Amino acid sequence: MRRILITGAAGFLGSNLSEALVARGDEVIGLDNFSEAGQENLTTLLGSERFSLVEGDVRDQATMQPLCDRVDAVVHLAAWKIPRYGNALKTLDVNGLGSYQVLSCAARRGVRTLIASTSDIYGRNPQVPFHEESASVIGSSQVKRWSYAISKLFAEHLAWAFQQEHNLPVSVMRYFGGYGPHQRLSWTAGPQSVFITNALHGEPLPLHGTGEQRRTFTYVSDLIDGTTRMLDEPRTIGEAINLGATTETRIVDLARLIWQLIHGASSEPQLTMVPYESFGGRYEDVQRRIPDVSKAQQLLGGLTASVSLEQGLAQTIAWQRQQLAARQPSSV
Ligand SMILES: NC(=O)c1ccc[n+]([C@@H]2O[C@H](COP(=O)([O-])OP(=O)(O)OC[C@H]3O[C@@H](n4cnc5c(N)ncnc54)[C@H](O)[C@@H]3O)[C@@H](O)[C@H]2O)c1
Repeated sequence: MRRILITGAAGFLGSNLSEALVARGDEVIGLDNFSEAGQENLTTLLGSERFSLVEGDVRDQATMQPLCDRVDAVVHLAAWKIPRYGNALKTLDVNGLGSYQVLSCAARRGVRTLIASTSDIYGRNPQVPFHEESASVIGSSQVKRWSYAISKLFAEHLAWAFQQEHNLPVSVMRYFGGYGPHQRLSWTAGPQSVFITNALHGEPLPLHGTGEQRRTFTYVSDLIDGTTRMLDEPRTIGEAINLGATTETRIVDLARLIWQLIHGASSEPQLTMVPYESFGGRYEDVQRRIPDVSKAQQLLGGLTASVSLEQGLAQTIAWQRQQLAARQPSSV
């Protein structure tokens, strides 16, 4: 049994990871400031004697240092995600300063640390699949959507600097498009979340841009499997590793699939086109984003994403239906 600090524990990945670690016998200290989530994802954990919850901010050293001093490992997931509609300052602040704080508090005792990064750090590099050594092709600093990729790249650079200068045993997880139970019910979680809500309500599905952009979608259990394997595998120290599924889906096809899983195979969704200009300021989307997962397979015991999109969406729809019914019983 190990004692593990998870930042962002109330969020989508944090709560799923906490459940997986507690279930296998680890002790988890979950930290969250509840800026983006309440305690609803933690209901099964709050009764466990192997889970304790701390309300606090990762940027606050007085909160973080005593926690880092008590644990065998830190998994840093707390973040402010891509500013599609919002502003960039919070993203740069939480992801940049927050990561610095987490890494420096872990460095005092050289605690094993994992930090979450993202497929977005490859930017608009047109050469897919992205290998871990692929270039980050980031657009103009006046396009605020790149602040997320930059904040995560900054966190990655910090991780390697702490490793080199303070001997910190750190790894970086580059997640690709996760979805599943406990995802947020907004665009921040990705298009599948909004499509499911709208489809359950019988409303049109909004496509950003043309809907021709393609993504890979990774069911949450596969991302958690990759994360726990990284935690357990010392050969991942000093490595960034892509974690994700490799099957591409056009966003318009995702919309259709979700609609048909809910309304039947012969039913067609009404689609509305949302121009990027409507987000406020300039926006640049990425057309394709596929991970090269050979490094994960090699270092993490042949890890592959095992849940198909249809299976994963069926589970996610069932969960989201329950969530929406609990909030507004007559709506679904
Ligand atoms: N979900 C994905 O598919 C995906 C893809 C790429 C990268 N990531 C990265 O993985 C990590 C987890 O993502 P997620 O989807 O679970 O996000 P999430 O938004 O569901 O969870 C993040 C949690 O962090 C908390 N938080 C935010 N600011 C905080 C602060 N200053 N102090 C303490 N807690 C704070 C929020 O309240 C929230 O509960 C993030 O770092 C994210 O950038 C996720």
